[in-house]
Amino acid sequence: MYHNEVEKLPWYYDALDNDLEEEIRILGVMTGRFLDLGTGPGTQAIQLSKIGYSVTGTDISEGAIKRARRLSNKVNFKVDNILETQLNEEEFDFIFDRGCFHVLAPENRRDYVKTVHKVLAKNGFLFLKCFSIKEPMTESPYKFSAKDISSLFARYFNILKIKETVYQGTLETWPKALFVVMKKSPSHIQPYADQLHFINLYLGI
Ligand SMILES: C[S@@+](CC[C@H](N)C(=O)[O-])C[C@H]1O[C@@H](n2cnc3c(N)ncnc32)[C@H](O)[C@@H]1O
Repeated sequence: MYHNEVEKLPWYYDALDNDLEEEIRILGVMTGRFLDLGTGPGTQAIQLSKIGYSVTGTDISEGAIKRARRLSNKVNFKVDNILETQLNEEEFDFIFDRGCFHVLAPENRRDYVKTVHKVLAKNGFLFLKCFSIKEPMTESPYKFSAKDISSLFARYFNILKIKETVYQGTLETWPKALFVVMKKSPSHIQPYADQLHFINLYLGI
């Protein structure tokens, strides 16, 4: 996939993702440790490093990382499967996932959420872009509603924003997408079922 004509991949976008750019402006923080998760062509990681962040770009694809390394020596590009990650606990202040989460198999989503929570520092931000259920394209990555996002992430993150937007790239019509801004919760909130389980254990039921 990343051997030739990378610039023609549907998700290829040379500039910084418009929604992330806007969010960074709102936050007003231009320094810190940024992970571009599933970096692919590396464009987002490179743009973030130009702003002044200390950037790591990871991808499961060796080909992608090999190619991205040739484009920038400012970004720390490395091969990493987020589902078996070698990244350290609390290693990043910010994570941007633009298109990795939405390609993962549904059975891996819970592990993904726990892992990104773990590698984010206290009060860290997760910026997520994924396809929206409003996108009519049939051959596509998985699609999500705001409710899907809440039910997957709310246990570990404060969801600050879920915005209907588009996924910028090389397609003639940019697919409908969600842009989600989340802040790491201090400790994950036990949902009702878990609480009940512990109460039952305590009561010996
Ligand atoms: C749709 S592409 C988006 C690439 C890049 N974020 C961008 O916006 O240009 C998704 C990327 O996620 C990577 N990916 C898929 N599964 C992954 C995993 N388990 N761990 C890390 N990267 C993964 C793929 O190799 C691919 O490069």
